[in-house]
Amino acid sequence: MTDLAPFTTLLDLDTGELTRDSDTVVARRLADLTGLFLHETDTDPERLVYRVFPVEVPPTNANLLHSITVLEPGRVGDEYFMTKGHFHAVRDRAEIYLGLSGTGRLVMATEDGRSVVEPMHRGTLNYVSGGWAHRSVNVGDGPLVFLAVYIGDAGYDYATIEREGFPVRVVEGSDGPVVEPNPRYRANAS
Ligand SMILES: [Fe+2]
Repeated sequence: MTDLAPFTTLLDLDTGELTRDSDTVVARRLADLTGLFLHETDTDPERLVYRVFPVEVPPTNANLLHSITVLEPGRVGDEYFMTKGHFHAVRDRAEIYLGLSGTGRLVMATEDGRSVVEPMHRGTLNYVSGGWAHRSVNVGDGPLVFLAVYIGDAGYDYATIEREGFPVRVVEGSDGPVVEPNPRYRANAS
């Protein structure tokens, strides 16, 4: 048990803004996402794609880490802006997403190649079971904002996704977002 006093954070349900100023905001720009998109186009590498605002608690299995993610709208080629995506380093750790604003898709996949794509919007409560990698994709015109809550010692394994990708990708079709097989899935795997 850690000696952590109970506390309350105020969250603006529309913008995702937190009253606690966090000095560990994670900001990912296109330059940080090289290799993520199938067709990389000549886009400004400084363009902001997403920010994560964590509420700081000790990263142990006695605590629940939580954070707000603001994922900007945009595309690279036909592919919507998305987060890097990760497995948890401790594979069996689960996570919950609560959609606050915007329109998105939550892409999830197992190490044996199964995939599930779920909707994200205000009010969606997505359960990411242990063992499933997860990536959010903004398919709308405004920011996609959501709350994530997960077991504190989960950790992040980005490397597996960087190497193998997800089995599917979400692209803009003539009638809206389309989920299609990722031709590069495991293409770089040894
Ligand atoms: Fe996670």
